[in-house]
Amino acid sequence: MTASLNALAVLNAATPDAKVKAAKHLAQEWAASQDVGAYIENVPDTPARPEKPELVAPSDVKRRRLGTPAGRCALLHAVAHIEFNAIDLAADMIARFGHHPDIPEADRNAFIADWISVCNDEARHFGLLQTRLAEFGMSYGDLPAHNGLWEAAVKTKSNFAARLAIAPMVLEARGLDVTLGMIEKLTSVGDTESADILKIIYNDEIGHVAIGARWFQTLARIRGQEPESWFHHLVGSYYAGQLKPPFNVQARTLAGLKQGFYIPLS
Ligand SMILES: [Fe+2]
Ligand SMILES: [Fe+2]
Repeated sequence: MTASLNALAVLNAATPDAKVKAAKHLAQEWAASQDVGAYIENVPDTPARPEKPELVAPSDVKRRRLGTPAGRCALLHAVAHIEFNAIDLAADMIARFGHHPDIPEADRNAFIADWISVCNDEARHFGLLQTRLAEFGMSYGDLPAHNGLWEAAVKTKSNFAARLAIAPMVLEARGLDVTLGMIEKLTSVGDTESADILKIIYNDEIGHVAIGARWFQTLARIRGQEPESWFHHLVGSYYAGQLKPPFNVQARTLAGLKQGFYIPLS
């Protein structure tokens, strides 16, 4: 099947195992033949998801104290939920925006390839967390979670530039800011297994922010927009609230995200 249809299959997979399998299938078929496929008209606004976790307001998600196994499980579960949504976000980028007219025809395969690699990474991250949760006798869905990530996706479903600005350059970049602290805390309480998983995720996520920032800047050039002021405008219109310091300037810079993008929004 084509990349478009395989990305749609990821969105339509409901169970965690089916979604991970579909993401891997997308990457495998792309490696065998780089067939972008046709434009898909009806990409679902909300992808299929399992009945659990129960989705609650962010304020109803319990705070995590990492000194206890229960606290660490809650953290791992929260990160697993982010990764699960991230699989869908990458698949949605392909299915919804892979044929966007602003992507030059000559760049289309590179665009699809980038987001397939992201989708595959997210599925791998989710799998690592699933395995770690199982070692604590838990699985994804055992705790409630909030739907903030997908709400951001729905808000930007009709604006390609806003999706690039918000999903990788605001939300995934925020992950870079907070993950090092989690790694430190997990290490300090002796949970090096969980810390090692977050280190893998952290390093890969620098690459994801880089992919998002690069395509945003490509799009800005095509549209004749000054990237930083365009980003400020889009975040102001599509993202409620300010960006929270402290920022991981080093990781953000590695990802090609200059301070001029985010400092003025904090
Ligand atoms: Fe991830
Ligand atoms: Fe990511």
